[in-house]
Amino acid sequence: MKKKKVNIAVLVSGGGTNLQALIDAEKSGIIESGKISLVISNKADAFALSRAEKAGIKTAVASKKELGQAGMEERISALISENSIDFLVLAGFMCILSQSFTKQYDHRIINIHPSLIPSFCGEGFYGLRVHEAALEKGVKVTGATVHFVNEIPDGGEIIIQKAVTIPDGSTPQSLQKRVMKLAEWKILPLACELVSKKILNGEI
Ligand code: GAR
Repeated sequence: MKKKKVNIAVLVSGGGTNLQALIDAEKSGIIESGKISLVISNKADAFALSRAEKAGIKTAVASKKELGQAGMEERISALISENSIDFLVLAGFMCILSQSFTKQYDHRIINIHPSLIPSFCGEGFYGLRVHEAALEKGVKVTGATVHFVNEIPDGGEIIIQKAVTIPDGSTPQSLQKRVMKLAEWKILPLACELVSKKILNGEI
């Protein structure tokens, strides 16, 4: 008999390298308790959508620009019910979700953030800006964090963190690549499997 799996939607905004890591991890069996069945972008031209199409995954757009915050969230909620989604993974999704939205999906949304929370996180800290801030401060170690999403930006319960050293002479771009390669692309699939398994087993 085929094993039951958690139905996953991945939310994206840009290049989608973290989405790619999830797709590859499902293929290689690192993610075995969940199935990525939908990719939702707030941007119609996100390259992440092409990655999903190439992998044969259904895609949808929920544009904040066109629909506004509430309209975007209504569209995401409709997509969740239409596609029987159990679990949302924010993989480079650059919109903050409202309290009324996150409240409905308690312990059903995770996010990857490119620093060791509570450093360099919260509103205004996203993408390259996070690495710029780390370099400005002169920290010698940074990393990535996967956490549950609640009403506080980057404030939910931490699931996995991985530290990465910062070599002298790093630029925001080189540091972003290093953190992705050494931390993000590893811990996001691991957290995705961990949480999917807990949902399947009724532990959360
Ligand atoms: C990743 O570094 C991700 O951690 C970050 O944006 C990048 C998206 O890259 N997310 C945030 O900053 C969220 N606050 P990707 O589209 O190639 O996965």
